[in-house]
Amino acid sequence: MSLSQPHPLLPVPSGSLEIRELPILSQAGDDRPLRFSLIIPTYQEAKNVKKLVHKCNKLLKREIPGEYEIIVVDDNSPDGTWEIAQNLMSEYPQLRVMRRVEERGLSTAVIRGWQVARGEVLGVIDGDLQHPPKTLLELWGEIKRGGDMAVASRNAEGGGVSKWSIVRRFLSRGAQILGLILLPGVVGRVSDPMSGYFMVRRKCLIGCTMSPLGYKILIEVLARGRVPWIGEVGYQFKERLEGESKVTAKQYIDYLRHLLRLRLSLGPIGRLLRFGVVGFSGVFVDMAVFYLLRIHLGLGLTRSTILSAEVAIFNNFLWNDLWTFGDIARRQPGKRQRFRRFLKFNTVCLAGIILQTLLVNLFFNVFGMNQFVAKLVAIAAIVFWNFWLNLKLSWRVTDVKK
Ligand code: GDD
Ligand code: MN
Repeated sequence: MSLSQPHPLLPVPSGSLEIRELPILSQAGDDRPLRFSLIIPTYQEAKNVKKLVHKCNKLLKREIPGEYEIIVVDDNSPDGTWEIAQNLMSEYPQLRVMRRVEERGLSTAVIRGWQVARGEVLGVIDGDLQHPPKTLLELWGEIKRGGDMAVASRNAEGGGVSKWSIVRRFLSRGAQILGLILLPGVVGRVSDPMSGYFMVRRKCLIGCTMSPLGYKILIEVLARGRVPWIGEVGYQFKERLEGESKVTAKQYIDYLRHLLRLRLSLGPIGRLLRFGVVGFSGVFVDMAVFYLLRIHLGLGLTRSTILSAEVAIFNNFLWNDLWTFGDIARRQPGKRQRFRRFLKFNTVCLAGIILQTLLVNLFFNVFGMNQFVAKLVAIAAIVFWNFWLNLKLSWRVTDVKK
């Protein structure tokens, strides 16, 4: 290729953030599999990108010559980081560059990079030299030993931060503790869950659709991937010499939203929480319809109560079918199947109301409990009853069509 003609940029994948078995083909058409793909997400790193690419390339060239690629994913930086990277391509044949114009954000940049990557192992390193490149070799060592993932950690042996203020240390630890409370099974698996410097085998992520928010891509990978063996390597988080950090208060809010989103989408606790949220929404629907029927249509008390309750049940069913049990519902599609689930859901809910009446009577009349406490305990019991029976009955996979 002549000097005047720049190397082509990578196409930008769109649509879902799913990691596939094979890369989304590059325009250059070279889809030969490689052993390793390193993503460098950049925004305004014009002064760092050249040095970083040079260092990473030197290390990888020695370790796995010709079997790696380095992919810079830049979000159309006004300082022209992508263009600088693009001009480096003639010097570094293993380098590829993506310029994103529509989407933005660190985590999605990494995933878009992985989507076009050809490596069997996928990695990420910050683009500002705060992550020492030489740690790449230690991380690669953990993968070679059989690790499914290798994480560079500030909290493992040999790790640390250079000159962090008390406030920054406090915020960092606070974020970690919050993560441990909300997602112990995810955040508790590594000593530095906030790390943005790691490698993971592609096979652990195939078929996983990522839905990250903000900066913490590692948490997303740990939560949605299948990663049995994790190796850790200590590293010193360096001070930034060039450019500026993009971390603002928004990143902390995104982090919180990210944790909550994962909590709601993972495991049995997530399902129960979703069920609770839907149930809560039903109370409002019930009240609103009841108000409408009584005040505007002048319907009788009993009829209004029954009708509004049924509308609420219908509301709850829809949300549960789409969200709470959406994964199960999608495995048995079709109107008929859905209608059957609706009938079962109705039955369980009606039985719940009868049971609740019995319980309130039992607590109040037999045990002499305060009537409001009795009602509250009965409601709590019924939530569990409803959840359990609906899980076992209504959304049970009955016949799965292949
Ligand atoms: N493509 C793209 N788009 N890259 C971005 C964006 C974006 O919107 N925002 C930030 N980056 C790039 C930066 O250019 C840099 O290379 C890297 O992502 C990290 O951003 P910084 O703003 O320097 O973040 P930090 O230093 O506070 O925190 C980083 O280091 C932590 C410690 O390992 C983050 O990467 C954390 O995830 C990491 O844990
Ligand atoms: Mn940084």
